[in-house]
Amino acid sequence: MKFFIDTANLAQIKEAQDLGILDGVTTNPSLMAKEGIKGEKNILKHYVDICKAVTGDVSAEVIATDYAGIVKEGERLAKLHKQIVVKVPMIKDGIKAIKYFSEKGIRTNCTLVFSAGQALLAAKAGATYVSPFVGRLDDVSTDGLQLIEDIRIIYDNFGYETQILAASVRHPMHIIECATIGADVVTCPLNVILALLKHPLTDIGLAQFLADAKK
Ligand code: G3P
Repeated sequence: MKFFIDTANLAQIKEAQDLGILDGVTTNPSLMAKEGIKGEKNILKHYVDICKAVTGDVSAEVIATDYAGIVKEGERLAKLHKQIVVKVPMIKDGIKAIKYFSEKGIRTNCTLVFSAGQALLAAKAGATYVSPFVGRLDDVSTDGLQLIEDIRIIYDNFGYETQILAASVRHPMHIIECATIGADVVTCPLNVILALLKHPLTDIGLAQFLADAKK
């Protein structure tokens, strides 16, 4: 399973990259705003900086919501760097644009996916990745992981190559369950990745080994 980091924070991206387990980065307009990146020029430069900091795919989201606008913006983003994947919202014009990008060989990440039907449409349009939001479904008392399971079955039934990129992943159990189900990718903040390291028995065992090593 691939690990992507869900942030526009360069220091955190570099820390995850240094760990040696990072396969890519996802961003969205909220994450860019959180880092104070404003204005088209700065935003485009920031995407390039992120691409230079990692070896894997970097999702860059379009702001336009009409077909012509999504195509124009997506083509511009794709030209920025070979690691860029154009992130397109799950709307009617978004699906049309994903189909267009797919035929042009431009890779896409269909975002804001909350149902299996939406994921099926994304795959049919030729999306490279589909991003179901696990945590946000949990937030409204709906089982986000069940959606990952349903999409896995549907994609396997028909051999769709679209990769399931579990997004809005908030804690270690989300990651473990996604791995069990067979999601292709999880994207989450750095602290969630680092939480996988922790176990009190590891700390106790290490302290004991170090104490015994002094004997
Ligand atoms: O990748 C989508 C992600 O940024 C949303 O996460 O925690 O805001 O639901 P969250």
